[in-house]
Amino acid sequence: MGSPKRSVLITGCSDGGMGSELAIAFHKAGLKVYATARNPAKMAKLVSLEGIETLELDVLSEASIAACAKKVPSLDILVNNAGQANPAAVSDMSIAEAKALYDINLWAPIAVIQGFLPLLLKSTSNPLIVNHTSVTSVAPIPFQAAYNSSKAALSMVTDTLRLELQPFGIQIVQLKTGAVKTNIGENAKKFVVPDGSIYEPAREALLSARETAFTGMGIPAEQWAREVAADLLRKTPAPALWRGGSATTGRVAALLPYGMFDNMLKKMTGLDRVEQIVRKLD
Ligand SMILES: NC(=O)c1ccc[n+]([C@@H]2O[C@H](COP(=O)([O-])OP(=O)(O)OC[C@H]3O[C@@H](n4cnc5c(N)ncnc54)[C@H](OP(=O)(O)O)[C@@H]3O)[C@@H](O)[C@H]2O)c1
Repeated sequence: MGSPKRSVLITGCSDGGMGSELAIAFHKAGLKVYATARNPAKMAKLVSLEGIETLELDVLSEASIAACAKKVPSLDILVNNAGQANPAAVSDMSIAEAKALYDINLWAPIAVIQGFLPLLLKSTSNPLIVNHTSVTSVAPIPFQAAYNSSKAALSMVTDTLRLELQPFGIQIVQLKTGAVKTNIGENAKKFVVPDGSIYEPAREALLSARETAFTGMGIPAEQWAREVAADLLRKTPAPALWRGGSATTGRVAALLPYGMFDNMLKKMTGLDRVEQIVRKLD
């Protein structure tokens, strides 16, 4: 009898996103895949693939995490992929909404790890936890500070956990992903410049910069997933994987002196225009 397949559970596998493509890439690599989403009806693409098991998992609900863990007999790899964005200037952001974003991007992955740790501790097949952070955990992209900082916090949790779980033989990897074409933009709240905002005089410039800021940067999710699955299936994966459009730029920027990429980021997001208007340079 052959040894049982290595198994992986992924959160946030709705059609069109990176979780769904990662599920397919792991499936093609021969793993037993548990693909999860808070709304299983959104996993139509995966349901049609024999061998992928789709399960309901709302990462914001401890009851849902516990119920899902009960349905999984054994687990070798856990991928915390579910996440959201909510763009807003720091001076305009709703603190309540920013806290809700942290619930999804920071506290939920921790709760999911706690829920599945008992299964991972029993794994004898190179147990691995993967957290989806972002290149924005090191790149201060303007008008998405809540998102950037939630990912930076998750990045530090991930690095800390890497040491805390070493005695137990569980490896930890974070995905410092750059731009990838998914539904994240449509799923996010629309970026607005509210009346009374300090940015109001440059509203049009900011909104139009936002429209084009990331255009053309994103790589297909399928390509990203193929590369990341191959990276993760190495015996000892790198603790941080930089894949996706402009991920390498972000990685280099993190090593360079502070502010080297400020002008690029300001131009990309329309802040150069704000400066011209506010300082009456026109
Ligand atoms: N796309 C990029 O350029 C990029 C770059 C760096 C990092 N990332 C990260 O990559 C991960 C995947 O994002 P994506 O780009 O593939 O976006 P996406 O297409 O919007 O997928 C996000 C997934 O997270 C799920 N989700 C949100 N809240 C959830 C909850 N409470 N419980 C369970 N699932 C929940 C969504 O479910 P619903 O469909 O039900 O909303 C969806 O399945 C995220 O962590 C994101 O921050 C993305």
